[in-house]
Amino acid sequence: MRVPHPIPYQGSKRNLAPKILSYIPSETQTLFEPFAGSAAVSIATALRKKCKRFHLNDINKPLIDLWRLIIEKPEETARQYTKLWNAQHGNEREFYDEIREKFNKTQRTDYLLYLLARCVKAAVRYNFDGDFNQSPDNRRLGRHPSMMKQDIIGVSNLFKDRVILTCQDYTKILSQAKIHDLIYMDPPYQGTFESGGFRYFQDLDSETFITSLYKLTERKIPFILSYDGRTDNKTFGKPLPSDLRLEKIEINAGRSSQATLLKRNHLTYESLYLSKAVIDKLGMDNEDIHQQELTHQTEMFIM
Ligand SMILES: C[S@@+](CC[C@H](N)C(=O)[O-])C[C@H]1O[C@@H](n2cnc3c(N)ncnc32)[C@H](O)[C@@H]1O
Repeated sequence: MRVPHPIPYQGSKRNLAPKILSYIPSETQTLFEPFAGSAAVSIATALRKKCKRFHLNDINKPLIDLWRLIIEKPEETARQYTKLWNAQHGNEREFYDEIREKFNKTQRTDYLLYLLARCVKAAVRYNFDGDFNQSPDNRRLGRHPSMMKQDIIGVSNLFKDRVILTCQDYTKILSQAKIHDLIYMDPPYQGTFESGGFRYFQDLDSETFITSLYKLTERKIPFILSYDGRTDNKTFGKPLPSDLRLEKIEINAGRSSQATLLKRNHLTYESLYLSKAVIDKLGMDNEDIHQQELTHQTEMFIM
C-alpha cells in the first residue's frame, strides 16, 4: 500500500510509522499529534483505518496553514506547487532565494511547500529573527508535481472531515485528550543521530515536558512517545524518570545516513515509550511487548 506523504520534513517518522502503528490500541477514538510536523504517524493510521478522528497540532503556523490548504483545497495546492516548480527552471538558485525572501515576508503556504521540497534535507531552519534560512539542495529540483499532486490528493481524502488542525503550544493540546483517545508525541527535544539536534521553530523546555507526562499518566491518558535513541555505541538524550513507569521499546531504524557517509556501519535505534494506559489497553504485559519486538527484529534480520 503506497503511503501518501506530501510534506517533505526532516525528522519525519515515515519509515518508523508502521512499527509505531502496531502499538496503537484498536478502538482508539481520536489520535492526537501535538508535534505533528509532516504527521507521518497520523497518515499511516488513517490509511490502515485504525482510527477515525485526528487532531494535528504544531507550533509552526505556516505549516498548519499548509496542512489546512492541502486537506481542504488539494487541487489548488497542487496547482500552486506545479506553478512554482515549473517557474524555477533555468534559474533555480535565484528563484529559490526569491521565494525564500517572499515567504519570510508573507508566510504563504505555497512558498513553504516549495521551500521544503527544495531545501537541504527538507530541514526547517530559522534564524534568530524567525526567518526561514535553509539553503537549497542544488542537486535536486524538488519532487515532481505529478507525484506531489498524487500525495496531496491522497492525504486530503484520508483526512477530509476527520481532522482538527490547531497551531498552539503542545501543553494546550494534551489537556483535550480523553481516556479513549491516544496521543502520539514526537517532540523536537532530544536531538537526532544526524546533527545532534533539530532546529525547528522553537526548542522545548524539558521540565515542562516531563511535568506534562506526569499529568497525562495521572489522568490515565494513553500516550506513545518518541524520545531518544542511540547508535551502536552512543546514546542521545537524557533518560526519563523511572516513576513514570513507561515501557521502553527500541526500534531498529537502520543505518544512519551520517554513518553511511563516513563509511561506518553503525545501526541506529530509536526509542519508543508506551504509557501504562497503552499497555493496559493492548492487553500485553511487558514480556509480550519485548517478545513482539524481538520477533520483529529477527524478521528484519532474516529479510
Ligand atoms: C520531530 S518534529 C515532528 C515530526 C513528525 N513526527 C513527522 O512525522 O513529521 C517536531 C515538531 O514539533 C513542533 N514543535 C516544536 N515546539 C513545539 C511546541 N511547543 N508545541 C507544539 N509543536 C512544537 C515543530 O515545529 C516540529 O514540527
